[in-house]
Amino acid sequence: MERTLILVKPDGVKRNLVGEVLSRIESKGYAIVALKMMSADRELLTRHYAEHEGKPFFEPLVEFMASGPIVAVVAEGNRVIEGFRKLAGVTDPTLAEPGTIRGDLARDQGTKVVQNIVHGSDSVESSAREINIFFPEL
Ligand code: RTP
Ligand code: MG
Repeated sequence: MERTLILVKPDGVKRNLVGEVLSRIESKGYAIVALKMMSADRELLTRHYAEHEGKPFFEPLVEFMASGPIVAVVAEGNRVIEGFRKLAGVTDPTLAEPGTIRGDLARDQGTKVVQNIVHGSDSVESSAREINIFFPEL
């Protein structure tokens, strides 16, 4: 069965949207198989966002993701990687369709990096890599 790594980012936790995000994952029919609230440090975030190292938004992204607690979730189901990316909506919350997590719950805050409530793995390879970073015990 396919698995994906989902993060409720610091903006989502601060705005008390953890339950809302979990509810959408569960209502869609995916199973939550692991869950924890944690603070991510620079080292962990640099591993997680390795593909973005060197990009102009990398530093603000790491700073934002380390700015408060996050909730890490592993969800499971057929085609959950693609399915959760659809539930999340596109990266820019202004452009994300209403009905999606980002489209319904986020907007442009004028910050240095886009704040968009959730992360979801984008491929089978990245989900395996990311789950191992956040849940090495799995
Ligand atoms: P995520 O990895 O968090 O699920 O988001 P994503 O696939 O939709 O977007 P990605 O391209 O992987 O970017 C990761 C996160 O970096 C921030 N970002 N800011 N131009 C920008 O200011 C910019 N581009 C990306 C966002 O927080 C994005 O979710
Ligand atoms: Mg991404």
